[in-house]
Amino acid sequence: MWSNEPMATTEGFRPPPYPYDRLVELREIAQHHDGGCVDLSVGTPSDAPPDFVVAAMATSGSERSYPFSIGSAAYRDAAAGWMQRRLGVSVDPGQIAACIGTKEVVAGVPHWLRLRTPSRDTVLYPEVSYPSYEMGATLAGCRAVPVPLDAHWRLDLAAIDPADVERALCLWVNTPGNPAGGLDDVTAAATWGRAHAVPVFSDECYVEFTWDGPRRTILESGTDGVVAVHSLSKRSNLAGLRAGFYAGDADLVDYLSEVRKHAGFMVPGPVQAAAIAAWGDDDHVEAQAARYRARLERGRAILTALGVDAPFPGGAFYLWPEAPAGDAWAFARRLATEAGLLVSPGEFYGPAAATHVRLAMVAPMDRLDLVAARVGA
Ligand SMILES: Cc1ncc(COP(=O)(O)O)c(C=O)c1O
Repeated sequence: MWSNEPMATTEGFRPPPYPYDRLVELREIAQHHDGGCVDLSVGTPSDAPPDFVVAAMATSGSERSYPFSIGSAAYRDAAAGWMQRRLGVSVDPGQIAACIGTKEVVAGVPHWLRLRTPSRDTVLYPEVSYPSYEMGATLAGCRAVPVPLDAHWRLDLAAIDPADVERALCLWVNTPGNPAGGLDDVTAAATWGRAHAVPVFSDECYVEFTWDGPRRTILESGTDGVVAVHSLSKRSNLAGLRAGFYAGDADLVDYLSEVRKHAGFMVPGPVQAAAIAAWGDDDHVEAQAARYRARLERGRAILTALGVDAPFPGGAFYLWPEAPAGDAWAFARRLATEAGLLVSPGEFYGPAAATHVRLAMVAPMDRLDLVAARVGA
């Protein structure tokens, strides 16, 4: 007889609690403050995307037919043009394909690579990082092997165990990094990958919020064996649109786009039209970068008033202070209680991050002013 109950003998995959769902109690505490909870736990944009982008979506006339899974020629040209302008690299649009935001690529790549190379089963990823690198490996039934970071939150490539290299399907790099804002040496990562015949995927979705030095992409040293992954979610405040692309090694991009086509992954036509408009404009991104810089400074001042030092990050829009006594949950609770602020405890980004907390400086300045007033900053 059919039953909702799992069979006692089944030991299949059970998704772990989604990290941010674990903040319900702290949110309630923060909510008691006059003016409510100021939520800096999730890196979701709160600022408006450009009007012309939304208008392009409404008037594309592309609703009727199926969109190309790899994106229209205009979409890939817009991505290539953006990389040329903003990152100084020239990439053939034939080596670029659309994706439905980058999370689906981050979470999906291990599965697709494993299908192609069943003899390998390991995904290498930064030990303090966005959780989807590890989850992508788990969802593919692969081993997720964290790569240690140095004191500047950069990958320590020399620390990768040769036995793991032999089994590796790919190495993930994330620069500028979430949560710590570290800036990796992308050339070193590409060289490492080529030397070991391990594809390197570089998640560069914060690249236009690089604060320390020039913007860097893994494609600077050529496309062989490397793939850069980009998104409109952060640069253009379009996380709700779901549009990005991956670009690089001709064989990898071709394989991934073929397999994704079979699986039915498509960026909707109206979204593609909006994305073309967004990739074509940089002024709104400069304005957004200025907002994030100001908020990062404001956040640091708030933390200073609480006796906590937060370094200005090398890139991205997160503050990543060490919690007093290294107790991230206690500090998160204190911030909720004293400041009405909701932040993420570091363990969301790996066990090695358990001493820190992450503040996503996405809330508008008037919300940060409210927090500042609560703590006397
Ligand atoms: C490092 C990193 N990669 C990927 C993503 C996913 O972004 P998207 O909206 O493009 O799926 C995020 C979102 O926070 C992120 O921080």
